[in-house]
Amino acid sequence: MLRKILNIIRKIKAYPLKYLLDRSPTKAVIEKDIQWWVHMIDRSRSDDTLFEKLMFLLYAENLEEFRNIFYYRIGNPSGFLKKSLLALSKMMYKPRSTLSISSPSVGPGLVIMHGFGTVIDAEKMGENCLVFQDVVIGTKNEADDRPTIGNYVHISVGSKVLGRITIGDHAVIAANSVVTKDMPPNSLALGIPARIIKEAGNKAEYIADGTIPA
Ligand SMILES: CC(C)(COP(=O)(O)OP(=O)(O)OC[C@H]1O[C@@H](n2cnc3c(N)ncnc32)[C@H](O)[C@@H]1OP(=O)(O)O)[C@@H](O)C(=O)NCCC(=O)NCCS
Repeated sequence: MLRKILNIIRKIKAYPLKYLLDRSPTKAVIEKDIQWWVHMIDRSRSDDTLFEKLMFLLYAENLEEFRNIFYYRIGNPSGFLKKSLLALSKMMYKPRSTLSISSPSVGPGLVIMHGFGTVIDAEKMGENCLVFQDVVIGTKNEADDRPTIGNYVHISVGSKVLGRITIGDHAVIAANSVVTKDMPPNSLALGIPARIIKEAGNKAEYIADGTIPA
């Protein structure tokens, strides 16, 4: 009984976000985000409704990063009601304060794990990329020399990806690397400065397959 009541309260609390989602011009992209996050985090929920999946992501422990993505997609809606609902939602579902997403374009399905100290300021990011904590994707010297990141790119913990470079699809950047040069598709780079050591091979496959590495 108590569980049922709690669930109803949760649904009511989550409703403002559903309202914003249903009226957002980016609804299709957010839907893809939700589907991919659930696919990556807990596939047993794949048959849930979209609202149930949204609720799962909102209430799951340590997934505040999902909220950052959600708010990034929603942007600054116009109108008093939407603005108020957004402000209320941000109070109820606080985003990860140490994660900043300011890229002008991010494809659907960006998953960020433990986004502590993470800045995502790419020129453009493809779909279904995976970014870990303490990562910076951004400018090197000038205000606009930012990287372009392909699809299904895996950026491991602590990496920095800097300057006007292109990272190919399915590339993998190893932990604590500093990448300042282009990476071809399917390559694996590591070190400071990062060098390409081999084909990413099946390293990128776990992303394509939707399984987060341990
Ligand atoms: C990219 C990654 C998967 C590479 O692993 P791998 O393909 O198994 O690489 P290997 O173990 O074959 O290593 C190849 C060589 O690079 C070295 N190496 C591997 N990762 C390295 C790194 N991050 N920095 C420097 N050298 C590294 C290995 O020591 C090995 O050197 P050797 O040939 O002289 O013995 C791994 O480095 C990585 O970054 N994993 C993700 C970590 C992560 O983000 N975890 C999330 C925690 S919350």
